[in-house]
Amino acid sequence: MTNRDDMTLTSSGFYVSQEAPIRADNPVPTPSVPAPDILRCAYMELVVTDLKRSRDFYVEVLGLTVTEEDGDAVYLRSLEEFIHHNLVLRQGPVAAVAAFSYRVRTPEDLDRAVAFYSELGCRVERRAEGFTKGIGDSVRVTDPLGFPYEFFHDVEHVERLAWRYDLYTPGALVRLDHFNQVTPDVPRATKFMQDLGFRVTEDIQDQDGTVYAAWMRRKPTVHDTAMTGGNGPRMHHVAFSTHEKHNILAICDKLGALRMSDAIERGPGRHGVSNAFYLYLRDPDGHRVEIYTQDYYTGDPDNPVVTWDVHDNQRRDWWGNPVVPSWYTEASLVLDLDGNPQPVVERTDSSEMEVTIGADGFSYTRADDEAGSYRGQASKGFKIGNQL
Ligand SMILES: [Fe+2]
Repeated sequence: MTNRDDMTLTSSGFYVSQEAPIRADNPVPTPSVPAPDILRCAYMELVVTDLKRSRDFYVEVLGLTVTEEDGDAVYLRSLEEFIHHNLVLRQGPVAAVAAFSYRVRTPEDLDRAVAFYSELGCRVERRAEGFTKGIGDSVRVTDPLGFPYEFFHDVEHVERLAWRYDLYTPGALVRLDHFNQVTPDVPRATKFMQDLGFRVTEDIQDQDGTVYAAWMRRKPTVHDTAMTGGNGPRMHHVAFSTHEKHNILAICDKLGALRMSDAIERGPGRHGVSNAFYLYLRDPDGHRVEIYTQDYYTGDPDNPVVTWDVHDNQRRDWWGNPVVPSWYTEASLVLDLDGNPQPVVERTDSSEMEVTIGADGFSYTRADDEAGSYRGQASKGFKIGNQL
């Protein structure tokens, strides 16, 4: 926990400081060899239990483009993408995540990935022909946190459809933006990801030193992935971006019109963390998908790290709307390299849900006004605390 006296309180009510305000008590050892040079989160491989139903959700409802498909899998991409896919839906017995996949800068970075994870004693598999269609030489690992990570450079290029305005829908998804992972020990996970070359952009902490979540990036946006504290390893969500806020509202309207409003779990709203406009959906298997737009540039080496107080009820929703409990508790299983679900380890640090919603009384809208009262006692605890 960074001492708050060492951070700068902004006029927006959060703190800023420089890189690495998070320290781990039981860190994963730092490998002696260099990490692979990761460009960006590139695609997620999702195991789904009813391929047709999932295809309908991602293609007919959300409008992703089918690059290729067969009886076993569907390969999808967003409108601005030029690599083969951003999402693979693969039929399987248990809904889970088979790979969080990142593109690396050069083919040699695959050698670096093998050396980096091998030194940590992780299981590592390399396939010159790739693990999925459209992707060449690839490395898959089970990382020290239990997540299935993939790295590749060689990939089939496909047409970038950004200019094809005839194909845009009102809710068009234009890019894969980020992953979000659930892990019991956020400082340990964050330190490991820093060794892998990620930079922290934002985090949520309390005054006692507990870290509840951290966001980290390779590309110059708020994140390529985030670590959310909870029972894990599990996948919290995969996020696609739209160009503007109105595209997210159009998705809500479309789901309402299709009588699919139960696919909307949370939002739409504005995040405090990341400043992005958001919407959370659940696909037919319960995999969570975020629609996200308009975060900010983070590419300078001295980009300020934002720290939010866990009791600030605007951190997860800038308008102060409460987070639904399922958003904190439910997440997707992840698989080992043999396709078996990884065992889930319970978080022992305190739970963000328990400290901020329910009968807590600790959330605030203004730091010096813990009652959260704007118009007096009548509104005390109106949004946070009494609403579940
Ligand atoms: Fe997200």
